[in-house]
Amino acid sequence: MAMKSLSFLAILSLLALTFPLAIASDPSPLQDFCIGVNTPANGVFVNGKFCKDPKLATADDFFFSGLQNARPATNAVGSNVTAVNVNQIPGLNTLGISLVRIDYGVNGQNPPHTHPRATEILVVHQGTLLVGFVTSNQDGNRLFTKTLNVGDVFVFPEGLIHFQANIGRSAAVAFAALSSQNPGVITIANTVFGSNPPINPNVLAKAFQLNPKMVMDLQAIF
Ligand SMILES: *[C@@H]1O[C@H](CO)[C@@H](O)[C@H](O)[C@H]1NC(C)=O
Repeated sequence: MAMKSLSFLAILSLLALTFPLAIASDPSPLQDFCIGVNTPANGVFVNGKFCKDPKLATADDFFFSGLQNARPATNAVGSNVTAVNVNQIPGLNTLGISLVRIDYGVNGQNPPHTHPRATEILVVHQGTLLVGFVTSNQDGNRLFTKTLNVGDVFVFPEGLIHFQANIGRSAAVAFAALSSQNPGVITIANTVFGSNPPINPNVLAKAFQLNPKMVMDLQAIF
């Protein structure tokens, strides 16, 4: 028995020594970048936010109200995303989770985008959605797609480009949880064709195999 627990201890300490080394990495960034400053006076972010004294915390630090309300989806793509992340619920800081409500108009869509810091799990609350994500180049840019009805759930793995389109005859609503307090969003069309200042049209023309005039037309839209 003594021998057994000794060797068990030995294995445990070996694991403790080797395992952290094997998986060690910087903590995931919780913002797009973090410019180092020498004085905390301007240091607003510390891998997220500074922490409030826990003794001063209240229930309201963990509370948000408003996801019961439908939002207008009258923009060009026909959707409206209401985010509930660390910026709405300060108590989410460091907890690695957040939520969105997405309203889709008739023929509306949440256009191809990625969350640099989160996997997303989505549930349809109302309507019918065509959803999908595309794997990375290494995995052959495979499209995984599905038609979802009320109560159906679909997962978009972290970092992969994904979309949802309302293919029903009326408005649609979905809720989604994301595995970051601040998942970030990169909308492909806006990022590529709507950057500020614009990317040189010749660069995008070659990248997308278009002529520069087509690129400039797209840049004018976004
Ligand atoms: C989404 O809804 C909010 C709240 O009603 C509104 O202020 C905002 O303009 C809407 N956004 C879009 C993209 O329609």
